[in-house]
Amino acid sequence: MKRVLCFGIVVLDRIYEVETLPEGDAKYTASGYRESGGGVAGTAAVAVAKLGGHAAYMGAVGDDTAGRWLAAEMSGLGVELDLLQQITNARTPNACALVAPDGARCLIVDRGTVKPAPVAMELAFAKADALLVDHRFPNLAAALLAAAPREIPRVLDAEGGDPDALRQLVALAQYPIFSNSGLKLCTGEDDPLGGLKRVSAPQARCVAVTLGAAGSLWLVDGQAHNVPTPHVLARDTTGCGDVFHGAVALALAEGKQPLEAARFATAAAALKARNGGGWRGMPERQAVETLILEYGSTLT
Ligand SMILES: Nc1ncnc2c1ncn2[C@@H]1O[C@H](COP(=O)(O)OP(=O)(O)O)[C@@H](O)[C@H]1O
Ligand SMILES: [Mg+2]
Repeated sequence: MKRVLCFGIVVLDRIYEVETLPEGDAKYTASGYRESGGGVAGTAAVAVAKLGGHAAYMGAVGDDTAGRWLAAEMSGLGVELDLLQQITNARTPNACALVAPDGARCLIVDRGTVKPAPVAMELAFAKADALLVDHRFPNLAAALLAAAPREIPRVLDAEGGDPDALRQLVALAQYPIFSNSGLKLCTGEDDPLGGLKRVSAPQARCVAVTLGAAGSLWLVDGQAHNVPTPHVLARDTTGCGDVFHGAVALALAEGKQPLEAARFATAAAALKARNGGGWRGMPERQAVETLILEYGSTLT
């Protein structure tokens, strides 16, 4: 079983279903409510564990209800938490989402006050077969990318944050994989292929951008490759990008080539879109393998 070290943010999402999104000063009644874990690295770690890898999450929560909830949930879903820091008197990141029946959302994000402290690199990379970082704590993420053993794949979920900090991370990752908005932020380009060509990452093995239901675009050895998604009835695309990045990191840890990793991640993220259900709706390995077989020819 390959071990993927996932460093970055974890968030408690509180999701209220409402008939209409709020307008102005009024009281609303929810028709449904659920809680789920969220956050880029946290969700990627849960995905890795469910896909049959060994996920080690590295990051921080506060010593509050949300932090305890997240630690229990991650551990219950099979994520190793030896590198999780529980910080006294800090607030765990959390989000409140109001979701209407047509899928329209109103999102309030509290980034919390947690800040993970540096960890001894030997400890972090003990037995790691791949590293995945997000942009949330850029200084520590940069230190990890720089210190990671050269033989392990180093993946960056280049989704957002401060543009200069993001560019610094991009310049350190072996696999900088952008979201569409992250690529625009980093390069100023609207066109995905134009953006990928402008990315400054001479050390990278390849660069890629995810494009929602349109799949992803990869630039490998100067060649562009489209990786389309199989058609699924998407119930909820929250966390699809996080699952995609976790699955890429696991596939690379297992020795797959970049485009093969892309197809594996595409199938995993499509199943996440179909399943919905937050962390509890993570696809299993078997379902991903089956989808790849069914859609194999369309995914090349
Ligand atoms: N509606 C969908 N149907 C199938 N796959 C999807 C859908 N939305 C997203 N995905 C998959 O998830 C990946 C990441 O989604 P994207 O929206 O680009 O990232 P993020 O969630 O980070 O914004 C896509 O490249 C695609 O493979
Ligand atoms: Mg994302």
